[in-house]
Amino acid sequence: MAMRPEIPERPTAQQVMQDAPVIPVIVLSAREQAVPMARALVAGGIRMLEVTLRTPVALACIEAIAREVPEAVVGAGTLRSAADAQAAALAGARFAVSPGYTRSVGKACHELGLALLPGVATGSEIMMAQEDGYTALKFFPALQAGGLAMLKAWSGPFNDVRFCPTGGITPHNAAEFLALPNVACVGGSWLTPADALAAGDWARVTRLASEAAALRRV
Ligand code: 3PG
Repeated sequence: MAMRPEIPERPTAQQVMQDAPVIPVIVLSAREQAVPMARALVAGGIRMLEVTLRTPVALACIEAIAREVPEAVVGAGTLRSAADAQAAALAGARFAVSPGYTRSVGKACHELGLALLPGVATGSEIMMAQEDGYTALKFFPALQAGGLAMLKAWSGPFNDVRFCPTGGITPHNAAEFLALPNVACVGGSWLTPADALAAGDWARVTRLASEAAALRRV
């Protein structure tokens, strides 16, 4: 396999999006799952890992991955406040993803030097994020908010924006999204199914990651 480029300690949002075709959206319910799961994803070729701040163990999981899996780049997802941004950075997150956008989240991430992929679903939200310097955006929830047709419509007025559609993306429709010129990567939870995590089925996680890593982008 070709050597992958080194990821800087503080990657840019563009580097986060360009590393692989898919950013896994991860929900961990036990601290013990974090390290073997991260190693399984890296073994499959996926190293940008979005651990969502949705469970009580999320920050501990981010900390464990940051400490024990140096080949991975762990980020925090579901960031909804400046306090979330601070907690994520303290735990060792190297990028952040939010389901929507607020100025206070944007400012906190900027001050922390944490690359942020802000969530947007409307033109006004894109404009607000752009005004604050963000041009690599998560389109969320992608399928529910207009899917491929919405991204095609945005490619005119927002032709300087690159999107990571997330929400409803599957191995079956990912390629259609990745074929759009304004899509840099997609996000999805299918790489880390809850039953595989609970069963410690790391071979399955690696297989799902390899299949995702092999998806083609334009
Ligand atoms: C998210 O939780 O950010 C997305 O909803 C993930 O969506 P999916 O479960 O449809 O991939």
